[in-house]
Amino acid sequence: MVKVLFVCLGNICRSPTAEGVFTNMVQLSKLGDRIQADSAGTHAYHIGEAPDGRAQEAARNRGIELGKLKGRQALAKDITEFDYVLAMDHENVENLLRICPEGYESRINLFLSYANGLENEEVPDPYFGGSSGFDHVLDMIEEASTGLLNEIRGKYNI
Ligand code: 4NP
Repeated sequence: MVKVLFVCLGNICRSPTAEGVFTNMVQLSKLGDRIQADSAGTHAYHIGEAPDGRAQEAARNRGIELGKLKGRQALAKDITEFDYVLAMDHENVENLLRICPEGYESRINLFLSYANGLENEEVPDPYFGGSSGFDHVLDMIEEASTGLLNEIRGKYNI
């Protein structure tokens, strides 16, 4: 099983959206028995909460249901357990490196490093903005998810 963890700050906006979008793509590709995704936040503010209502609505408009997801905090053991630990922005790369067990640093990368043309960019935090921010986040996440799935399929020959 190839395991992917998406990470943002609160685990209620960007990373659950990435988990939902990427999992949907994996299922459409019939690779659900080979690739597994999860998400977590580097802060503890929203542990146990469902994704933000605006994130749920924006995802639902694209046929993706996030309502059953629950916020949790990223742990050091996640970085040894997941093959890919993909942060939404540089702040969360830094937060992850602070808890990273020695020797596992290369598993931590920016999610958008897999997005064509957006390689050094961040998925902007939509929490304090309006609902259009959530659509912009979805566009970026769809692009990066396509690139990530292609990368995994090539690397593992699946
Ligand atoms: P996320 O968005 O990191 O995409 O889940 C945020 C959610 C909550 C907060 C910040 C960002 N907060 O400060 O509570």
